[in-house]
Amino acid sequence: MSTSRTASPAGHLATRAFPQDFLFGAATAAYQIEGAAFEEGRTASIWDHFARTPGAVINADNGDVACDHYHRYPQDVALMKDLGLQTYRFSTSWSRVRPDGGAVNRAGVDFYERLVDELLGADIVPWLTLHHWDMPQVLEEGGGWTHRDVVERFTEYALTMHDALGDRVKIWTTLNEPWCSSFLSYTAGAHAPGRQSVGDGLLAAHHLLLSHGTVVNELRQRDAELDLGITLNLTVADPVNADAEADLDAARRIDGQFNRWFLDPLFRGEYPEDVVDDLRRVDAAAVKQWQEATHDGDLATISAPIDALGVNYYHGEFVGGEKPEVAPPGGDAPTDRPISSPFPSHEGIHWHERALPRTGMHWEVQPEGLTRLLQRVSREYAAPADVALYVTENGAAYDDELVEDGGEQRVHDAERVEFLRGHLGAVLDARQAGVDVRGYFYWSLLDNYEWAWGYEKRFGLIHVDYTTQKRLVKDSGLEYRHIISERAI
Ligand code: NOJ
Repeated sequence: MSTSRTASPAGHLATRAFPQDFLFGAATAAYQIEGAAFEEGRTASIWDHFARTPGAVINADNGDVACDHYHRYPQDVALMKDLGLQTYRFSTSWSRVRPDGGAVNRAGVDFYERLVDELLGADIVPWLTLHHWDMPQVLEEGGGWTHRDVVERFTEYALTMHDALGDRVKIWTTLNEPWCSSFLSYTAGAHAPGRQSVGDGLLAAHHLLLSHGTVVNELRQRDAELDLGITLNLTVADPVNADAEADLDAARRIDGQFNRWFLDPLFRGEYPEDVVDDLRRVDAAAVKQWQEATHDGDLATISAPIDALGVNYYHGEFVGGEKPEVAPPGGDAPTDRPISSPFPSHEGIHWHERALPRTGMHWEVQPEGLTRLLQRVSREYAAPADVALYVTENGAAYDDELVEDGGEQRVHDAERVEFLRGHLGAVLDARQAGVDVRGYFYWSLLDNYEWAWGYEKRFGLIHVDYTTQKRLVKDSGLEYRHIISERAI
């Protein structure tokens, strides 16, 4: 430990160092922060539409203005620089770049050119995600992700972004959390477009993966030097009782649907048979339709080699086959959504309470789950394929309060400070165990539009006053700045 180290704002002395090439960043997504929803040629995305569906989003909040990042990006990049971020993960809006999924909108592309130039000018590496859930509404009306044609539309959009930014952006993520944009959106109906069909979820997931593989192949052909990858929301499913058959089976099914349904086709070119069987029991016709929609050669495309796998980790799952006597906070269902909706393949799986703190989303705080997850994903998938791992999202919502302190406004978000430090420690533990994890992105840079939760949940390192658009760095942001400058926790 270097003797010149000073205590962090939260009073911690750094004792565990990160390697020099480890990347510290923060992440956002277009619809959640940009606003300017109908400016300069942008047209409606499925989220503009869904947000206007009665009952779909808390308080009927929408992303029309959000953090007004479209107009305030220079200030936001200056804040990133002040925090010392080395990289910034953002997404581009399909409806801004190719409104209605059609011809290129120069003004939309120009915005991302300006943003990337601003980042490069601040020495921040741009990390671009092509799809963070906001498909053009017109495409949804033509079938959305359930329709195979979407692969071509998505590829055109990806190539437009590459035409514009390929000389300056070297790290490209095709999709963010395809589990959410398929099963949560087309089967559970909790996210846009709000459909509730097992078959539609399956088709959507397949076409998302096929779009990913197609774009990876196209971009690779254009430039062999690019770092290409995908980001998945992965989880650790623990059975309530490791000796109970039904609990083990509940954990297997959760692991199957969240993790292996995506990892297996991407890394092994096959879908997990046990999950196909689970789904067949729920809806045999849907499985048949999905099998017919899976053409020869699709899995070879989906498993095109990648360079980076992004892991988004928020919490694990503690599940069993029996209903608990007392339902855990957040209810007897996955808590990624405010509206409890039917999710047939979860039938007979019950979430239980264990002795872990919870965030403002009722999500468990379980940093050691991240270590285990990284070890497992590395061992079974990434390391054999020589793929680097990054934690592309990790963060927590809490009920932050703005307070007056010594004549200044502050947000003393001590729980988020501990959350951040705990999970960075978990990343170091994974590295110590030999996992090649090369970076960490806190979710999120700014408080923003938390999808079906609207503006009610705040994840940011920076507080946003949605009336004045004033930004204020929280204590967690100050702590992160210190960690980055020391390169240690
Ligand atoms: C994952 C998603 O990628 C992001 O958009 C969302 O805000 C966070 N999880 C928090 O729920």
